[in-house]
Amino acid sequence: MAEYDYDVLIIGAGPGGYVAAIRAAQLGLKVACAESRATLGGTCLNVGCIPSKALLHGSEKFAEAVDGTFAKYGIKTGPVTLDLGAMQQQKLDSVKQLTGGIEFLFKKNKVTWLKGYASFVDAHTVSVNGETVTARDVVIATGSSVTPLPGVAVDNDEGIIVDSTGALALDRVPEHLVVIGGGVIGLELGSVWRRLGAKVTVVEFLDQLLPGMDGDVRKEAAKIFKKQGMELKLSTKVTGVAVDGQTATLTLEPSAGGAVETLTADCVLVAIGRRPNVSGLGLEKIGLELNKRGQIETDHDFRTAVPGVWAIGDVIPGPMLAHKAEDEGVAVAENIAGQTGIVNHNVIPGVVYTFPEIAGVGLTEEAAKEAGEIKVSKFPMLANSRAKTNHEPDGFVKVIADAKTERVLGVWCIASVAGSMIAEAALAMEFGATAEDIAYTCHAHPTHAEALKEAAMGIGGKPIHI
Ligand code: FAD
Ligand code: NAI
Repeated sequence: MAEYDYDVLIIGAGPGGYVAAIRAAQLGLKVACAESRATLGGTCLNVGCIPSKALLHGSEKFAEAVDGTFAKYGIKTGPVTLDLGAMQQQKLDSVKQLTGGIEFLFKKNKVTWLKGYASFVDAHTVSVNGETVTARDVVIATGSSVTPLPGVAVDNDEGIIVDSTGALALDRVPEHLVVIGGGVIGLELGSVWRRLGAKVTVVEFLDQLLPGMDGDVRKEAAKIFKKQGMELKLSTKVTGVAVDGQTATLTLEPSAGGAVETLTADCVLVAIGRRPNVSGLGLEKIGLELNKRGQIETDHDFRTAVPGVWAIGDVIPGPMLAHKAEDEGVAVAENIAGQTGIVNHNVIPGVVYTFPEIAGVGLTEEAAKEAGEIKVSKFPMLANSRAKTNHEPDGFVKVIADAKTERVLGVWCIASVAGSMIAEAALAMEFGATAEDIAYTCHAHPTHAEALKEAAMGIGGKPIHI
């Protein structure tokens, strides 16, 4: 039997890779993880989930102080000013603590961090910064990067045309931020800078924001963002951006073609999606081919077509989400260790951390209708006592169930704490719950979660409070 330096070598230390590394080590395997970034944690901890949530939270506090929210509670403030440097510093402090935390966990679990860029020599040999390392199993967890917009050059240092990484690090509040792409990044980071004082225009190619989400949710979200002062240009494409000094001039036209218009801005955020990180990995050396979308295909166990090589996270098909990558990290490690690691890809919640939050799990109403007969019930947050008391009237919870069995097929919500509420729906769906199961589960009062219970009541009967 061949001798290897490690049982498992993981390429990439994002939420997929670092979780796989720790789980594999917990299962008694000798593990190394190659990461080229100076800190562990991948996109999520360094330039994604964590810094964006730090700025979303900070900017929400600022907005509450200036937009009259405090005043609603009888809290009077003097003039409120923004110290953007301090807000950015608290973001960096959170990132540092969390990335340092992963380094601590690597040491605790005896995972070796191979610092550098990894590339395959053969299926069991990887070169990291010129040094070769062998492993019985190799996991590709290289994540994803920003999709560029052809002809639009991002320069995060200049701070005029930026991607998400640049938009997280601006040292000034733009006067006019134009966001290209009305997806998750555009709306989250657009919200940050709008709250801090920028005029924000979102240009979206499709006729609605947030592709992939439930149709009702997309419509309602657009209404809410408009009410908050975001300008939305739907069914519109950007055909070019020219920069002159500190000013960017965007050329726009209707997606279906038509009259050209221009828009000027002092900051442009390109947020039109992300694509898998595969270049430079040497996949051709192991004969691993990509699918049409540039992703690595795997089977249900996360095995690629090459024996001994596995893949997880943003680099494989499915939603590009940290929790999906983490769950795949646990599952792949368990499979490599001879156990049965499974991820239920039908029940992966998605959350947009705007205010209110927007969350969903399972099928959209449109997809569920295509699959068969359904029942749908919606309960407005306006009729939820806690949301009403907290002056958070916007949004609803929507439960989609199979018409015959009333088994829950999907749940969608817009609510201040939708991200936490959706966890209950995911758990219910994981257990194969019917709407009645949720409706007859006692929910604490007064909580936003009662809105899910009442929406579920509406599937087989009627909610109480509407
Ligand atoms: P990544 O986190 O991308 O990690 C891959 C790592 O591999 C990187 O550190 C990279 O440096 C390293 N690497 C790549 N190639 C090599 C190589 N050849 N050798 C060595 N190292 C290599 N998701 C959520 O669920 N919730 C959120 O709130 C959220 N917010 C986000 C906000 C922003 C602005 C962005 C950009 C993304 C956000 N995401 C969020 C998505 C989330 O960050 C990704 O889905 C997640 O990080 C994917 O994890 P991963 O392990 O597959 O890859
Ligand atoms: P996205 O796929 O969510 O949205 C991109 C949007 O850009 C789409 O609506 C698309 O129609 C539009 N678009 C594409 N080309 C365009 C063009 N030329 N002009 C105008 N619009 C155009 O991608 P986004 O926002 O970049 O985020 C990437 C991924 O990161 C997400 O898919 C998500 O998985 C992850 N993410 C998750 C977060 C969360 O879970 N809260 C937060 C941020 C990112």
